[in-house]
Amino acid sequence: MKRSTIKKIFSTTPNGQTVLIKGWVRTFRNNQFISLNDGSCMGNLQVVVDFENTDDDILKRITTGAALAIEGTLIPSIGKGQTVEIKALQIAILGDCDPEKYPLQPKKHSLEFLREIAHLRFRTNTFNAVFKVRHALAYAVHRFFNDKGFVYLHTPIITGSDCEGAGEMFRVSTLDLHHPPKTADGKIDFSEDFFGKETNLTVSGQLEGELAAMALGEIYTFGPTFRAENSNTSRHLAEFWMIEPEVAFADLEDNMDLAEELLKYVINHALIHCSEELEFLKTRLLDEEKQKPQNERSELDLVAKLNFCLNNEFERLTYTEAIDILKHSKPNQKKQFKYLIDEWGADLQSEHERYLVEKHFKKPVILTDYPKNIKAFYMRQNEDGKTVRAMDILFPGIGEIVGGSQREERLTLLEQRMKEMNLPMEEMNWYIDTRRFGSAPHAGFGLGFERLVLFVTGMTNIRDVIPFPRTPKNAEF
Ligand code: 4AD
Ligand code: MG
Repeated sequence: MKRSTIKKIFSTTPNGQTVLIKGWVRTFRNNQFISLNDGSCMGNLQVVVDFENTDDDILKRITTGAALAIEGTLIPSIGKGQTVEIKALQIAILGDCDPEKYPLQPKKHSLEFLREIAHLRFRTNTFNAVFKVRHALAYAVHRFFNDKGFVYLHTPIITGSDCEGAGEMFRVSTLDLHHPPKTADGKIDFSEDFFGKETNLTVSGQLEGELAAMALGEIYTFGPTFRAENSNTSRHLAEFWMIEPEVAFADLEDNMDLAEELLKYVINHALIHCSEELEFLKTRLLDEEKQKPQNERSELDLVAKLNFCLNNEFERLTYTEAIDILKHSKPNQKKQFKYLIDEWGADLQSEHERYLVEKHFKKPVILTDYPKNIKAFYMRQNEDGKTVRAMDILFPGIGEIVGGSQREERLTLLEQRMKEMNLPMEEMNWYIDTRRFGSAPHAGFGLGFERLVLFVTGMTNIRDVIPFPRTPKNAEF
């Protein structure tokens, strides 16, 4: 007999037919009721055991976490909260689970505890929901771009360049750490390294993405990126996934439109295709927020927040306008910000971003035209000589979710900026070539995938939306 998933069973009309199901025991009550989950959906299927006619040895082995195969008849259920159940005819133990040693108990565990047993946390309802939503969002991203005719481009994981110029890179090397080869002047000789030069894990696929966009027109990347920044926050990972579209002949306006459309599209996809998971996560969040004082709780529940985001235009304003708002804001005047805003040019901290989004505009915000000194070399310079055509999208509860720009397509201005910033021009000749041979205006952005999943699931720590988080001092599993 072929196995049915529990999801399928739930949509089958019960008429006493025999079915085969397999799954893991969530609970076993009164030696009679097994609550079985096979991952196909959030709900558990109730299996009723005829304990008087079941081997004692089998009954003892039906414990939380054990894997079972059950053949039984599908019947309507009179129990509360379920429409069908299975009357077991035959139970086989596929894998035992020692209840003395199994860390997951049929009770609520803290997210911190579950993070320590990330190899088992998939078996909880919360993580079942989170990773289903994560999957749906990834699928929606591909669908969005595919339907628009974008090409999915696989940019390299190992590179020799630092796209963001922030120097936050993980080195890739096969040299002997203890006895590296040295050059005549005593420096490490990377010409003897695997690639014959210094290499690192990519911080962004943008530079390579630009090369392809200047021929294919519209491309996007969706892959892992790595940052060795020592930020132990609930918003930063050392390994995260990023979506980076790059569009030829597009300006900043087009870039903002594309980003807003993408975000709304994928959120809408999750609302339609993950309603069960989002309902569950909404309730989870409400429960979690009950521990907080009233003024720290969200005004909208999770689903309402997602709908609100869909139904409102993102607020667009310049960095300069934002600084003005922040300067005159209450927390700045009452010195409640950790970093006070006193002059134009300051980099915005997440407290400022969150003030703008959560307190001032109360909706997603797109900030543009940042000071060139706090942004990367490739951004298009404005006429004022001070700002660049950058955009950051700020989301409630998250802060920056997207960072992007119109690119500097003018060769002399790009070279001048690279010189000012001491970038290795020789090594980046391939990049500058795009400006030498048929340069054209173009623009793109990076969407942090985990920050998106964080927003849509209402989880509060980025470590809980990626299966195996990499953060400073932690690369477990
Ligand atoms: O703003 P960032 O650094 O921009 C770039 O990398 C550009 N090259 C993108 C482009 O224009 N093609 O990063 C983009 C986004 C951020 O807005 C944030 O959502 C996410 O990537 N991000 C991180 N997410 C998790 N952990 C980190 N350490 C992150 N750093 C950036
Ligand atoms: Mg950024």
